[in-house]
Formats: sequence, C-alpha cells, structure tokens
Amino acid sequence: MAGDLDTAPLVGRTGTMATLRSALHDDLGPGQTGAVFLTGESGVGKTRLLTEVAEQLRQTGAVVLTGACLDIGDASPLHPVRQALRRLDAEQAEARTTAAIRAVLQVFDEEAPGPDGAGALLERVAQGLHLVAGGRPLVLVLDDLQWVDRSTRQLILYLLAGLGDLQLSVLAAIRAESLRGAHPLRRVLTELRRLRSVRVID
Ligand SMILES: Nc1ncnc2c1ncn2[C@@H]1O[C@H](COP(=O)(O)OP(=O)(O)O)[C@@H](O)[C@H]1O
Ligand SMILES: [Mg+2]
Repeated sequence: MAGDLDTAPLVGRTGTMATLRSALHDDLGPGQTGAVFLTGESGVGKTRLLTEVAEQLRQTGAVVLTGACLDIGDASPLHPVRQALRRLDAEQAEARTTAAIRAVLQVFDEEAPGPDGAGALLERVAQGLHLVAGGRPLVLVLDDLQWVDRSTRQLILYLLAGLGDLQLSVLAAIRAESLRGAHPLRRVLTELRRLRSVRVID
C-alpha cells in the first residue's frame, strides 16, 4: 500500500538497520554470501524496512535487485527476479550492465520448461546475475516471500550455496501469519538457519 505514510520519517529502526547492513554487506567479503529473512505480522513495517535498506545498500555501491512475490503459486516462475531485473533495467544508465540485464531477461523467454530444464535455467540465471553484478556486491531483496514460487525458492538456495567470486546477499520479508501450518518455506528456513551466514529476524 503506497501513501503519505511511506514518505513519513522512519521511526525506531536504527538498530535493525545496522544489523541488516552488517549481515548483508559490511561483514561479507568477495565470494561470500549472506541472507536475512524478516518475519512479522502484516503492517509491522517489513516492506518499509526493505525499501530503506535497499536504498542504503545502493548508496554503498551494491547492485540491488528488488522484487515482490505474488500470490499466484508457480504460474510465473522466478517472477520476483524478472520483476527486479526489469526495474533495474529501467533505472540503469551503464551500458555494460544494461546489456547483462537484457541477456538474463532473454534467458527467461528462451528456456523451455522441462523436468531437467530447471537446473539449467537456475545455472544460466545465476551466471547472468554474476554478469549484472560486474564485480560489485549483489543484493537480492524479495518482499512477500510467503508467496514465493518453487523456482525462486530453488534459486535462493542455489545462490546462497555460493557462486565463486560473487558477493551475494538476500534480504527477504515473510508475513508471519502465512508461515503457520505446512508452508513449504518453513522447511527451507529450517535448513537455511543452520548456515552461519543466514539470519532469521522476527
Ligand atoms: N519504522 C517505521 N517508521 C515509520 N513508518 C513506518 C515504519 N514501519 C512501517 N511504517 C509505515 O507503516 C505502514 C505499514 O508498513 P509496511 O512496511 O507496509 O508493513 P508490512 O510490509 O510489514 O505489512 C507503511 O505505510 C509504512 O510506511
Ligand atoms: Mg509488506
């Protein structure tokens, strides 16, 4: 929901912002990955926090990709990543980055979905993101992760498993109400929080 409230000054998030900046950027070296998953009830301020952190990390020189999941199941695989790339494409001025973004977007259109196509697609998208980053830290910011599609879920795990010399971090927000019951993300989060570089913040 956009409105005047979103331009009102951010209140009382200094500590959380600092924690997020460290976990997603300052504490990471080349080739390292990190992730923070924010969980919280609807309206508590998750989207706003993502926006503020994304802006701060952009100012540090990171390439920040921001997208949101939709409540459409697996109807549009990797939707938030595509959306994020299109947004970056609209903002970017540097020709080299623009070319890299267009190349990844083309992968989405070309790749025939099939049983063994999924692994190849993830690999090509990951390689594409590497080019988009162009040596800079890459931050993937995903809102409404409670609706994440299967491919995006796989991509997150794939990317966090490490990509050589790419410094990559993922910041995602999840509506807490949706995590109750047998949500597929719960299993993923249980796996991920075993990793030292992954934090789940309520
Ligand atoms: N720390 C904050 N200071 C000021 N306004 C905030 C803060 N956090 C959230 N808001 C405002 O409260 C409203 C709801 O926040 P939002 O980020 O959309 O919640 P959520 O994504 O958790 O549902 C928005 O208008 C947002 O701008
Ligand atoms: Mg929100």
